[in-house]
Amino acid sequence: MEVRYEALFVLSFLCLVMCASAIGVNWGIQASHQLPPSIVVQMLKENGIQKVKLFEADDGVLEALKKSGIQVMVGIPNDLLNGLAGSEKTAENWVSKNVSKYVNDGVDVRYVAVGNEPFLQTYNGTYLNITYPALQNVQAALIKAGLGNQVKVTIPLNADVYASASGKPSDGDFRSDIHGLMVQIVSFLNDNNAPFTVNIYPFISLYNDPNFPLDYAFFQGSASPVVDGSITYMNVLDANHDTLLSALRKNGFGNLSIIVGEIGWPTDGDMNANIQYARQFNQGLVNHVSSSQGTPLRPGPLDAYLFSLIDEDLKSVLPGNFERHWGIFYYDGTPKYQLSLSGSNTSASLVGAKGVKYLDRKWCVLKPSVGLDNQNIAASVSYACANADCSSLGYKTSCGDLDARGNISYAFNSYYQKNDQDQRACDFNNIATVTTENPSNSSSSCRFNIMIEESLATSLRSIRYSWGWVAFIPVLVIFL
Ligand SMILES: *[C@@H]1O[C@H](CO)[C@@H](O)[C@H](O)[C@H]1NC(C)=O
Ligand SMILES: *[C@@H]1O[C@H](CO)[C@@H](O)[C@H](O)[C@H]1NC(C)=O
Ligand SMILES: *[C@@H]1O[C@H](CO)[C@@H](O)[C@H](O)[C@H]1NC(C)=O
Ligand SMILES: *[C@@H]1O[C@H](CO)[C@@H](O)[C@H](O)[C@H]1NC(C)=O
Ligand SMILES: *[C@@H]1O[C@H](CO)[C@@H](O)[C@H](O)[C@H]1NC(C)=O
Ligand SMILES: *[C@@H]1O[C@H](CO)[C@@H](O)[C@H](O)[C@H]1NC(C)=O
Ligand SMILES: *[C@@H]1O[C@H](CO)[C@@H](O)[C@H](O)[C@H]1NC(C)=O
Repeated sequence: MEVRYEALFVLSFLCLVMCASAIGVNWGIQASHQLPPSIVVQMLKENGIQKVKLFEADDGVLEALKKSGIQVMVGIPNDLLNGLAGSEKTAENWVSKNVSKYVNDGVDVRYVAVGNEPFLQTYNGTYLNITYPALQNVQAALIKAGLGNQVKVTIPLNADVYASASGKPSDGDFRSDIHGLMVQIVSFLNDNNAPFTVNIYPFISLYNDPNFPLDYAFFQGSASPVVDGSITYMNVLDANHDTLLSALRKNGFGNLSIIVGEIGWPTDGDMNANIQYARQFNQGLVNHVSSSQGTPLRPGPLDAYLFSLIDEDLKSVLPGNFERHWGIFYYDGTPKYQLSLSGSNTSASLVGAKGVKYLDRKWCVLKPSVGLDNQNIAASVSYACANADCSSLGYKTSCGDLDARGNISYAFNSYYQKNDQDQRACDFNNIATVTTENPSNSSSSCRFNIMIEESLATSLRSIRYSWGWVAFIPVLVIFL
């Protein structure tokens, strides 16, 4: 008996050290070519990742997570909120099909994320009236399904739902235009023993304000800390988190648990989005989380999910070209940089995806015989970029040092690969050609990618491709 108690004690101690402080990841699937979910789950396991946050209840992803031992937060996209808010039956249906079914099959669902940053000011209030009713209906449906204790609801909110007029965390409160609504929601979460989820983006702070002190984003001390009474904030995550905690305290909910739903740093598409900064930020974050020191106002384990696991080439670049480059892994599951997710073992590094299948070693480039004065070039490049991914081209990006011919070839290749190396996707009115010689220059950071093979939907994509081609013809005609 005693031995067993000891074992239990050691186990729970280990868990205190390891379980509570392990970082989770966001697994988004807005990619033209997704890695097979089973390969991703294997990769999660090999990296010791124990928690994932999903943006939707994707069947393939949830199937792959069965009996994996990985904890799951399942998201509900904003466009489903209206239906869920309007009908309890719809919410019950959603819970039955997208939670109960998988829980019964051995998926360890812990949270349902109702909406994704629904109160962003850029949405012009579209989701203001429906998010809370949707939250209530989903909670009621979970209880009805017998999952009330096991699965908690939450709403991942952008940190713009609160602010501090003075800039000091202790002056934090909810945004005045949604103050009443926030208090209702927080009170509901509190009643249901559910957490507040917030997304915190130091990179965006820097992107929006070039004067934002870079060292205040990282976790290695700052020359411009924020002094708040007896507390000195050395990094923006702690300050931001405690601004939220102050807002919660001010409104009587200072005990609510907080999850940092998204936090990370992109590697491309902007002058401050690079491998070096991303590694510095994410390693600092992992170490901060692993240390379990918490924040000045709430010492103890910090629950956080890295944004993100894998790059997604279909994400909108409206916020900026960096948007497709948040992954700690490239599109093919290759690690981008050395990152120790355990915090304590500094020599551990990311383990890449295994068993990934690539298309042939072929690229599409501008024909060497075609001069830069060729009249087809401009329209072809814009077409390729609009339909594939040129977010790595531009000032101080990974392909920022390409010359004009390199730029054009990069765009052509991106389109060709996205269309599964279809011969017709490397023509552009006869100015492009397929080559088996890698156009990537080994002394440049620019990668001319080869796309991965996808088991499903290949035929679907070629149908889409044909339509794209039809649309291309008028563009060229207009240009000529
Ligand atoms: C389950 O979730 C998926 C993905 O968000 C959604 O398309 C589907 O409509 C949901 N099922 C139900 C019954 O609501
Ligand atoms: C919000 O309003 C602005 C200005 O009226 C408009 O330009 C924008 O498209 C709107 N956004 C959405 C998501 O409706
Ligand atoms: C939300 O409800 C309020 C009050 O019922 C109403 O004035 C407002 O127009 C509604 N907003 C939207 C976006 O539906
Ligand atoms: C928070 O929890 C502590 C200890 O469990 C309790 O004493 C305190 O009253 C709680 N505060 C609120 C605002 O619920
Ligand atoms: C640390 O990580 C390295 C590389 O993954 C591994 O070889 C080593 O065994 C680990 N050390 C400990 C103490 O876990
Ligand atoms: C390459 O393309 C980028 C982005 O489209 C552009 O900013 C840059 O000026 C181009 N470089 C050359 C040499 O044409
Ligand atoms: C390769 O890239 C380096 C660094 O950008 C550049 O100096 C060199 O000219 C490039 N070589 C070729 C063959 O394009």
